[in-house]
Amino acid sequence: MGKIILTGDRPTGRLHVGHYVGSLRERVRLQNSGDFEKIFIMIADAQALTDNAEQPEKVRQNIVEVALDYMSCGIDPEKSVIFIQSMLPELTELSFYYMNLVTVARLQRNPTVKAEIQLRNFEASIPVGFFTYPISQASDITAFRATTVPVGEDQAPMIEQAREIVHKFNTVYGETLVEPEILLPDNRACLRLPGIDGKAKMSKSLGNCIYLADTEEEVRKKVMSMFTDPNHLRVEDPGNVVGNPVFIYLEAFSTPEHFAEYLPEYAGLTELKEHYTRGGLGDVKVKKFLNKVLQEELSPIRARRKALEKDIPYVYEVLKKGSEAARETAAETLSQVRRAMKINYFEDQSLIAEQALKYQNG
Ligand code: TRP
Repeated sequence: MGKIILTGDRPTGRLHVGHYVGSLRERVRLQNSGDFEKIFIMIADAQALTDNAEQPEKVRQNIVEVALDYMSCGIDPEKSVIFIQSMLPELTELSFYYMNLVTVARLQRNPTVKAEIQLRNFEASIPVGFFTYPISQASDITAFRATTVPVGEDQAPMIEQAREIVHKFNTVYGETLVEPEILLPDNRACLRLPGIDGKAKMSKSLGNCIYLADTEEEVRKKVMSMFTDPNHLRVEDPGNVVGNPVFIYLEAFSTPEHFAEYLPEYAGLTELKEHYTRGGLGDVKVKKFLNKVLQEELSPIRARRKALEKDIPYVYEVLKKGSEAARETAAETLSQVRRAMKINYFEDQSLIAEQALKYQNG
């Protein structure tokens, strides 16, 4: 059987370069590799509502933003099915059955949920829907019989929990569901790109993101204002490249070709880092290089976005067609699940005959 991808994002804002190196760029590569039988990319609006119940408009507005970001990065609706989670009621039904296979204690131990509860100050007032979203995520994955889930590192506990649910389901009801595997980017720097302020994570609320939709000038300004090594005050001073966002971004984005084109005096990133560490290399020079690298990567994305923005009804049409196609697949899985769980009463002729017989002889 061929390999199948399912992955997605919550539509709570535009996507940024952290999403890009952590997952989007990888998805496009996988899409074009020809190694996968099917690829499903989901806009997780129902999951976004689990912690944005009172902001439905925010979620609604961001669906098209995320779709534009996907397609401008190169996710091609001819090759990948792009769809909206809430358009598939089958996913909700699967979750309801999976809930019986997971304990409250297990959900409480999920490290991602734990961290998010803290981040949102939910503590005593966690919405039940939010608390159970790892179960819903298992439904998203298993509905498509996904073998492969390309996501960022923060999602690892979700995939682990999904695997446990699959294992439990198959043990109780018989071999039905497919156990998924996480696929992380090889490049360590891509796992967690820091914010431009050096904080561990890019986040909209911290205002430290470079968005895929940022203009050339916005990107340039953000790069030039990036946090570096606070002790690297003068050009002559030795600098620290470890944990220095400018260098982490270069790890994630720069290639030997970029060096050949923009900084031919250095053989590559290793030499540039050595010079910075030794002293004698100014931040401005490194930032200007990073800006060129980023612009080269982002400008075709920006151009495709501009073109797509001119035809928003087309983008919605893609989502509608994608949701219809995705729904067919999810419905097939749901009927297998119902059969396995013995809740397929009307399609099970032997059940009806058996019951009839019981009462005939009774
Ligand atoms: N949790 C993911 C995020 O925060 C979104 C998501 C929902 C997802 N369901 C998924 C990702 C299934 C991978 C597989 O962006």
